Amino acid sequence: MGNKTICCINKDFSIDNLKRLILDVYGDNTPLCYLHSFGCQQNATDGEKLKNLISKIGYKFTYSTENASLIILNTCAVREHAEDRVFGNIGRFKRLKEEKPNTIVCICGCMAQQKHIAERIKQNYRQVDLVFGTFAYNQFYEMLYEVLNTKKRIFNISEQESDINENLKQLRDSKIKASVPIMYGCNNFCTYCIVPYVRGRERSRAVEAVFDEVSGLVKDGYKEITLLGQNVNSYGYGFPKLLRKLNRIDGDFRIRFMSSHPKDATHELIDTILECDKVCKHLHLPMQSGCNRILKEMNRNYTVKEYAEIIDYARSKKPNFSFTSDIIVGFPGETYEEFCETKEAVKRFRFDNIYSFVYSKRSGTKAALMEDNISSKQKGLWLRELLLEHREVNVEWMSRFVGKTLRILVDKEGRTSDEHLQGRSDENIIVEFIGGKELIGSFVNVRINKAMNWALLGEIV
Ligand code: SAH
Ligand code: SF4
Ligand code: F3S
Repeated sequence: MGNKTICCINKDFSIDNLKRLILDVYGDNTPLCYLHSFGCQQNATDGEKLKNLISKIGYKFTYSTENASLIILNTCAVREHAEDRVFGNIGRFKRLKEEKPNTIVCICGCMAQQKHIAERIKQNYRQVDLVFGTFAYNQFYEMLYEVLNTKKRIFNISEQESDINENLKQLRDSKIKASVPIMYGCNNFCTYCIVPYVRGRERSRAVEAVFDEVSGLVKDGYKEITLLGQNVNSYGYGFPKLLRKLNRIDGDFRIRFMSSHPKDATHELIDTILECDKVCKHLHLPMQSGCNRILKEMNRNYTVKEYAEIIDYARSKKPNFSFTSDIIVGFPGETYEEFCETKEAVKRFRFDNIYSFVYSKRSGTKAALMEDNISSKQKGLWLRELLLEHREVNVEWMSRFVGKTLRILVDKEGRTSDEHLQGRSDENIIVEFIGGKELIGSFVNVRINKAMNWALLGEIV
């Protein structure tokens, strides 16, 4: 496929010329942009970077595709379902594009980075003007200029692993919580996973860059900072050291991070979490499977015993230490007995939350070539079985908080009644309680009265 290298393709390009061009095409009315990011928080931060670029050239944002001059779907490729949703959306843009030919439709991100997807869009979805992958966010202006100027379609999915561009800042939606990427890419090649293919190899941001950004966010009043990476434990300059440094920033805020790969989760990491007052006492530690044979097939590089050892160590120091996990059900070749080992492990490790998924075949990965005899309908039943099992143990495990007082960051209005607010505890558990809306964005202490399967109920003390 003829991927153009976009940088400097058009000698006339400058930001002023781009702004003039936008004015030419859309007239004096402020052009509107619809931007939606699918997938993980990492992808959302890319979306926020695009948002910043777009706001600087005069666009405002809209939640409706109908009145948008620029439509951007920032996509995820992790499971088939995510991709199906995007194709469903693209289908609907056909009429829109016919009615308003000046509307620019753009598909970017992880899904677009895959050759077969870009090719499919090129052949079958003429309504899409611009396709670019995860390496091209910083060429957005040039690409937009080219599309508006020449009316030609652009496909830019080349894999130039450039240095991290510290000039691309995020325009964040929330004023309370901020995500901060500390590294990009992944080196682990779990056999089911597409991420290493669409995000390239690991690259870590410099400690100073992360430190400065977090300090700035705290000064701006942010109360919760989430450090992001596919495997923060392999952060290039020492993750526990980074946590300790960020913990020394003055201010009333807390620090979260995700994800942690169990193969690199050390006692030093647990000790650091426990010793740093601003770091939440919670670890999202994706287990994926509770069966050694499957873990091996997945190329996860740990055994159930090694996984258990991390949990046991943390709980020997703090009995209530909170763990959450990701689980894949129905990996190729997995038997019902092997699935039951996962179910048993989920019961035993008492996760505060699990994010569980039916295995989804990703073309280009090793697992896609493995024999798979169980129907997806059957796997769906296993998933339900797992969730029911987890729900049963979970309410009891959550009851450990009843009678205790938790520090809650208030997020928004609650679900329980009009008078309720909702927030999150250190453990990232949803807590609801009665309080005035002026509390949104601040920390409150809440005494827990009741544990339900989706949240804790309590009252402000
Ligand atoms: N880097 C993170 C995971 C990112 S993807 C980590 O290793 O923890 C988030 C979750 O999606 C994974 O933990 C896994 O449970 C799930 N996942 C990834 N690929 C999948 C696939 N092909 N089918 C089903 N679930 C998948
Ligand atoms: Fe995927 Fe494994 Fe990398 Fe996580 S660590 S992004 S599951 S390859
Ligand atoms: Fe994230 Fe999906 Fe890409 S989970 S890294 S947006 S494939």
